[in-house]
Amino acid sequence: MSMKYAIRQTTLNDIDRVMYINRVSLPENYTKVFFIEHLRKWPKGFYVAEVDGVVIGYVMSRVEIGWGYLKPGLVRKGHIVSLAVLENYRRKGIGTALMQAALKGLKEYGAREVYLEVRVSNTPAIRLYEKLGFTVKRTIPYYYLDGEDAFLMVKPLAEIP
Ligand code: ACO
Ligand code: ZN
Repeated sequence: MSMKYAIRQTTLNDIDRVMYINRVSLPENYTKVFFIEHLRKWPKGFYVAEVDGVVIGYVMSRVEIGWGYLKPGLVRKGHIVSLAVLENYRRKGIGTALMQAALKGLKEYGAREVYLEVRVSNTPAIRLYEKLGFTVKRTIPYYYLDGEDAFLMVKPLAEIP
């Protein structure tokens, strides 16, 4: 069944709700200052999804300068820090729409590639990222506090000359 949803840029008023969704969806939680700093520095990388005027998902990202995963040398890289959609609203394309908004914003900031870490057991997220063109670059052993490994996944955002 299809559901009407809207994707919009996050505002300061959304942060408590975003933190709630983060808490109930993922073991990786962050301070309020961390969310606010991302919003302040990279507003075009931070979106929420709304259904009937209620925020039910978010994506938060950032821009970093570092060694390219796809191209040698220093490059501007987008980093998807956190993505979550409340359980009752999953599998309706909302996670994909949030990611597409963030990818567009990161590209506007000049990012040449985008990367993220995901638990090796997180099949739903891995499938979503693969559908968006991410591929596994490598495994990061014991990345998470509970000892689980992460896949580092990468996607090009611009043509590689
Ligand atoms: N099983 C298998 N494939 C899945 C599943 C699933 N449970 N969920 C999504 N997918 C794949 C499918 O291919 C799906 O397309 P389809 O429905 O046409 O088959 C595709 O991903 C797109 O799914 P969406 O509906 O766009 O994704 P959704 O809105 O459900 O959000 C998300 C996906 C964000 C991973 C959600 O499951 C969630 O919030 N999970 C808990 C939090 C989480 O794991 N976040 C990612 C952590 S990694 C990080 O933050 C960098
Ligand atoms: Zn990360």
